[in-house]
Amino acid sequence: MTLAGKRVLLIVSGGIAAYKAIELIRLLRKASCAVTCVLTAGGAQFVTQLSLQAISEGKVYTDLFSLTDESEMGHIQLSRSADLVVVAPASADILAKMAAGLAGDLASTLLLATDKRVLVAPAMNVRMWSHPATVANVATLRRRGVAVIGPDEGAMACNEFGAGRLSEPPAILAAIGALLTAPQPLAGRHVLVTSGPTHEPIDPVRYIANRSSGRQGHAIAGALAALGARVTLVSGPVSVPDPAGVTVRRVETAAEMLAACTAALPADAAICAAAVADWRVENAAGLKLKKTPDGAPPGLHLVPNPDILATLSATGPERPRLVVGFAAETHDLRTHAADKLRRKGCDWIVANDVSPATGIMGGTENEVHLITHDGIEDWPRMDKDAVAARLAARVAAALA
Ligand code: C5P
Repeated sequence: MTLAGKRVLLIVSGGIAAYKAIELIRLLRKASCAVTCVLTAGGAQFVTQLSLQAISEGKVYTDLFSLTDESEMGHIQLSRSADLVVVAPASADILAKMAAGLAGDLASTLLLATDKRVLVAPAMNVRMWSHPATVANVATLRRRGVAVIGPDEGAMACNEFGAGRLSEPPAILAAIGALLTAPQPLAGRHVLVTSGPTHEPIDPVRYIANRSSGRQGHAIAGALAALGARVTLVSGPVSVPDPAGVTVRRVETAAEMLAACTAALPADAAICAAAVADWRVENAAGLKLKKTPDGAPPGLHLVPNPDILATLSATGPERPRLVVGFAAETHDLRTHAADKLRRKGCDWIVANDVSPATGIMGGTENEVHLITHDGIEDWPRMDKDAVAARLAARVAAALA
């Protein structure tokens, strides 16, 4: 990734983490990236204008109404001359100002006036981060295409523990690099992705599940976000990390997954990579099932789960333009996949052979066949990330 010659406008807002902005500027300068700083009044309580100036080797703007600044470079021009606007740390206050469209000081005015992509790296107390007001503000900003990195989880300066720590400067640098160097053919598009297994309860402690790791679905969500899409990832229980820049809705059962998917509409495309359980236990027990003295096992009566892919594929005003299903098969792959394309009413099927010998289910590689109404493409075996990148590029082409 080369950042040489790129220009970042860095807004440093209030918070103890403001000192980390100095390290971020150092990393950006080391990558030959030009940095112009804006220090808010809150930020100035934690770092000085002088230190930002020294490390960025440039002017540090602090005041909206400074006549000298206005004659040198008006705030509109300042907001446009950068390739990317970064807010690090982003306080709860500046996120709220951004969400509300306030323009009472230089930083918020620049953020309202800019026509460039904006990356925010929030940092605040855990309760401020989880407050419904902040949650709503961040959701609003994401919807508008603002990229969000972090916050990280950990011990905080206020002696509390939780999410709210500023992401580490190298991670912010990587996010800046990704935004500045990647083409964004899916900017302005919303893509819904399902991933992982579902857990269908038998009783409060037992459930029916499957071996899906969520690796492929999560990789697809990340690859779509990297192309600029706003991604809602509806994920069953998985241990893989959340992909960067993606809104994650965690669910357990197929019914919850369907509800989360329909709540996320409208979407331009839906990629159903989840391994949804076909059946659930009717009337799952409210209390833990106990062994009986005669040792007779309980009888489980299964009923079908809703088909999320078929529901999303059903024609109607909210149908995404492109609906993609997955077909995990152990035999007669092509016949079953082509049949599924018709039955489910989707546009594409990504089919793969999940026989244990392939090591695909739960593994890191995949070998897929893309089945469209025009025919079948056989893709070579590759990393799940590579499959994701190739599929995301195809989605971008289809939505262009
Ligand atoms: O019918 P089958 O489970 O083989 O179909 C697989 C495809 O359908 C996958 O894309 C999966 O995400 C989706 N599916 C679904 N809801 C179900 C079952 C499968 O969305 N209840």
